[in-house]
Amino acid sequence: MQTCQILGSGHAVPHRILTNADLEQMVDTSDAWIIERSGIRQRHIAEPGSSLSDLAADAVKQALERAATSADEIDLIIVATVSADMKFPAMACLLQEKIGATKAAAFDISAACAGFIYGLHLAKSLMQTCAYQRVVVVAAEMLSSMVNWTDRNTCVLFGDGAGAVVLGPAEGNSGILSTTIHSDGNHSKLLYNPAGSQHVLTPEDLNNNFATINMQGREVFRHAVASMTAALNEALELAGLSAEDLDFIIPHQANNRIIEAIAKRFKVPPGKLIVNVERFGNTSAASIPIALNEAIQNGTIKKGATVGMTTFGAGLTWAGAVIKI
Ligand code: UT7
Repeated sequence: MQTCQILGSGHAVPHRILTNADLEQMVDTSDAWIIERSGIRQRHIAEPGSSLSDLAADAVKQALERAATSADEIDLIIVATVSADMKFPAMACLLQEKIGATKAAAFDISAACAGFIYGLHLAKSLMQTCAYQRVVVVAAEMLSSMVNWTDRNTCVLFGDGAGAVVLGPAEGNSGILSTTIHSDGNHSKLLYNPAGSQHVLTPEDLNNNFATINMQGREVFRHAVASMTAALNEALELAGLSAEDLDFIIPHQANNRIIEAIAKRFKVPPGKLIVNVERFGNTSAASIPIALNEAIQNGTIKKGATVGMTTFGAGLTWAGAVIKI
């Protein structure tokens, strides 16, 4: 059975930046509160009407170039998103057209903030069973399109962005050493957007911000720390490694306090922790691949590094992975 490795990565965010000072003008909040409770200083927000698949295409093109792979070699495109351009077709198909991946099969997965590792898990399995040689996993979110901009509990947290990796057969020691995914639908109402086929939107819904993110922040926080810890422990066990073997940990970039709690549980010194939440906010599924690509491009994560990743999101979903670059 072939295993797979990351051949190249890329990320893209919208140009427009929304700072905490900007948010102070929009809702009853303060720069100090946002930084203390979340660590976020700014987030990138797409212009209204812009397309998430364009952002995803930008990230994929970078990843393809770094992987020395042309679009027509891609066998499969998996897009992890809960904020696709349209209800259907899948954003993966829109992306396929934009990058010219003519022979690829393409589909979306919905696992909220855990989507990227869910995508890796699927890609790894399908590369083993279908003998795919080149698979693209993209995680892209435009949560700004479903944020209630009058709700200070949620509107300060999220940002837009896309991150992508190109996977190919593993060579040498490099590879995706382990992945693990979990869900618990019993807690679906802790974090959700009710818009969907169960409720056809009315004009009043638009005025009432019906089709937006609802979150019980405290409860989500509690589950996040426990689940992310469990997921990384499980991924380490599957890889036959311990936390001391990791060169870096990339936690889901939701909130600095969650990240600090994870660091404490795994006794991670600051230099081993990849954190960029202060500049991007919570970009949901895109947060781990954006952080991974940034750290590779700025030389922090080098060839041969062993990296643990752990994430958590709506569903509830959670997932962990260990990769060797
Ligand atoms: O990818 C997963 C996505 N979700 C998450 O990661 C969210 C996880 N949860 C969190 O990160 C935290 O729960 C938050 C950052 C959302 C909130 O922090 P908290 O320490 O749990 O605050 P809280 O919700 O308990 O609210 C404390 C107070 C409340 O006021 P009162 O009732 O004590 O008077 C809130 O109304 O802070 C108030 N508050 C704010 N104040 C200023 C809530 N949001 C804001 C705000 N600015 N933006």
